[in-house]
Amino acid sequence: MERCVGGDMHPSYRILMGPGPSNVHYRVYQAMSNPVIGYLDPQILACMDEIREMLRNVFQTKNQATLAISATGSSGMETSYVNFVEPGDVVVIGVNGFFADRMTQVAARCGANVIRVEEEWGKRIEPEKMIKALKEHPEARICGLVHGETSTGVRQPLEEIGAYCKRTDTLLVVDAVTTLGGYDVKVDEWGIDVCYGSSQKCLSVPPGLSPITVSSKAMDVLRSRTTKVQSFYLDLILLEKYWGEERVYHHTAPVSMFYAMREGLRIVFEEGLEARFRRHEMLGDRLKMELEGLGFKLFAQEGYRLSMLTSVVLPERVDDAKIRSRLLNEYNIEVGGGLGWLKGKIWRVGLMGEACRVRNIHCLMGALGEILS
Ligand SMILES: Cc1ncc(COP(=O)(O)O)c(C=O)c1O
Repeated sequence: MERCVGGDMHPSYRILMGPGPSNVHYRVYQAMSNPVIGYLDPQILACMDEIREMLRNVFQTKNQATLAISATGSSGMETSYVNFVEPGDVVVIGVNGFFADRMTQVAARCGANVIRVEEEWGKRIEPEKMIKALKEHPEARICGLVHGETSTGVRQPLEEIGAYCKRTDTLLVVDAVTTLGGYDVKVDEWGIDVCYGSSQKCLSVPPGLSPITVSSKAMDVLRSRTTKVQSFYLDLILLEKYWGEERVYHHTAPVSMFYAMREGLRIVFEEGLEARFRRHEMLGDRLKMELEGLGFKLFAQEGYRLSMLTSVVLPERVDDAKIRSRLLNEYNIEVGGGLGWLKGKIWRVGLMGEACRVRNIHCLMGALGEILS
């Protein structure tokens, strides 16, 4: 029987201080309410060109192959491996958290022979350790790393590993899902070959797009594959034909998300990258200090802590689920719990993009002060 389910939906306005998504600027919502047009309409093609140009600027790259995959951050990860790995290829992945571990699973599903370089969760992987593994496997097609490990709050330094990969045939694949738009991601300078991010964290656009950029070294590897890319949807050569000059239909582009991305990126550049990174750094430090004042201990290794995501060990008196649910239901504040074995042990408090505001720190501290007293 036909029936309409539910009444009007009015989700609460939450202060999003979890591991993502972050709050969305009203201009981005306004942009999304523009009329839907066709995926080859000259106006959407112009919008895509502008997105491409601005994405090159956030990735700090001149890479021609720079675009946004029509799906969430995970699609950037899948795209990176499904395009550059052929069955039997060796890939070396640094594993110090939940998303790095997921990378190994994605690579294995593409048929890769995965070499894991393990590090304790909460610590960065020492570049020398990674380089040693790469020297032991000179045949490695990919070296994979997560720049901002959202499960632990650790920032992975990339410069030395990038400089090493530049001198070899190995491609450096970097997950910048959490850092892109909130911290330097110097794709060209650091020698990153494939780098992907997400729309919903420091870019403050709703979830649904994964920006990606690919070096010419990586595009050459892709063109010389002996087997077809297993995924049609994520095939970068086909995607480039749509995003590039040829304009060949590939999929029905989510044009409302393109409007959102364009506006979100315009907001990023109105502020300026440097100022935006400084804001994340300053407020990230402030949040860490205030949480320590309440008895929380910082989880991530000193010197390698993310600015946009603070991981803290819960004091004895803090009941994870109970307090996070009171924060959400009574104060409209979302903070993240631990992932994997860290569930119930740590919180992950985000300050990403639009949500990275001093007023949000005040709200959280006020609420925690009231609840804990
Ligand atoms: C570092 C990292 N990589 C990948 C992902 C997956 O992105 P998504 O959930 O947008 O698919 C996330 C999500 O939080 C992440 O933090």
